[in-house]
Amino acid sequence: MSSKKSIPVIAGLDVGSSKVTVVIGTVSDSLKIDIVGVGTAPNTGIRQGVVVNIEATTESIRKAREEAELMSGYRIEEVFVAVSGNHIRSFDSKGMVAIKNKEVGPHDVERVIEAAKAIAVPNDRAVLHVIPREYKVDGQDGIHDPIGMSGVRLEASVHIVTGSQTAISNNLKCIERAGLKTAGLVLEQLASAQAVLSDDEKDLGVCVADMGAGSTNMVYFVHGSVAHTSVVPVGGQHFTHDIAIGLRTPQMSAEALKRKFGCSMVSLTSEDETMEVEGVGGRKARTVMRKDLAEVIEPRSEETLHLIYNDLRMSGLLPLLGSGLVLTGGASQLEGLVEMGEFMFDLPVRRGLPGKVGGLAEVVKSPAFATAVGLLQHGLAQKKYSRASAISEENISESIGSIGQKVKNFFENMF
Ligand SMILES: Nc1ncnc2c1ncn2[C@@H]1O[C@H](COP(=O)(O)OP(=O)(O)OP(=O)(O)O)[C@@H](O)[C@H]1O
Ligand SMILES: [Mg+2]
Repeated sequence: MSSKKSIPVIAGLDVGSSKVTVVIGTVSDSLKIDIVGVGTAPNTGIRQGVVVNIEATTESIRKAREEAELMSGYRIEEVFVAVSGNHIRSFDSKGMVAIKNKEVGPHDVERVIEAAKAIAVPNDRAVLHVIPREYKVDGQDGIHDPIGMSGVRLEASVHIVTGSQTAISNNLKCIERAGLKTAGLVLEQLASAQAVLSDDEKDLGVCVADMGAGSTNMVYFVHGSVAHTSVVPVGGQHFTHDIAIGLRTPQMSAEALKRKFGCSMVSLTSEDETMEVEGVGGRKARTVMRKDLAEVIEPRSEETLHLIYNDLRMSGLLPLLGSGLVLTGGASQLEGLVEMGEFMFDLPVRRGLPGKVGGLAEVVKSPAFATAVGLLQHGLAQKKYSRASAISEENISESIGSIGQKVKNFFENMF
């Protein structure tokens, strides 16, 4: 442990509806992220991206942080935080300024972005992102980097993402209570897209659907930049609920069955595959065919993909999505979902796993970690990393001691 000195690290915090995740990465001299720590904790304090229980959420953040810190051996103070929920709104705006000195400088770009931002945003909304889409110099459009160009008039088209002040401040309250500072807020699906997309896909046009527990958060890229964001109110929880009812089994076992045997197309299962299904209220476990489970899941998969397709159509961007649709988030892991999507949409569909990181990359190579990993990449792009120091031997034994004490208390309370 003593070989670990203070080095640049970036940490991401994804407070999801099903789980809280903290991922810690170190930043190398060549600006590459190496994952060094991951912590997760179940969370019951969030519903559809919005905090409904401060205590429960704070406790989950603490646990996930502690686990990630112990794994990495570094103590973190600051985190990039993912924000989601149906309080998010996004829209396009434009700004225009006169270019000083007849050549566009960084200051002109800042001014034109400010001008585009200066639209009326109500007091109860917080601006999360102002994403430049394109610039025009003296009417010439399609410019991505105007710095150094000659002209007298600079225009910018931007995409603005806002969220409810109240919802965001409840999120921040939990983070603060867990002893962490917020380095920046990032729209959840934007972070996920950062982790799972290539630049080529963004240039060709693509939509990312982050399928979480409570909802599916969408972001569209056209000509390399964000064109639209939206939320479809279905997620993995709806599948679990259907299974619990359809197979008459408790929610917990429905969740486990879905993860282990779930399949979105009956045609992909065979007659001889069976599984044990726990009964409700002390009833005996039964043996059920995997095909019967797929029969419960198939209509929900079709409905979910229809809702996603509807969103693609309503966005008006469908003809511009040359790279199709990328499904990510925990719920995208359901077997057969990608195949069903390709069949239904006549679009290229793939599953997005977080990439472009080293270190313990295998540990986070799941769609469920796309948001958390993307937060680190967002932080790196903003060159906002802090130096973290190694946790001392005493701190580690203190943490392990406190975990031991919690386990002891738990058993004492039980008997
Ligand atoms: N192997 C799997 N097959 C199918 N579904 C799965 C699998 N693993 C996890 N899920 C589902 O993924 C969902 C959780 O996904 P994720 O971790 O991305 O959600 P979250 O970020 O906590 O939620 P949200 O983004 O909605 O706030 C749960 O509903 C879970 O049942
Ligand atoms: Mg999520």
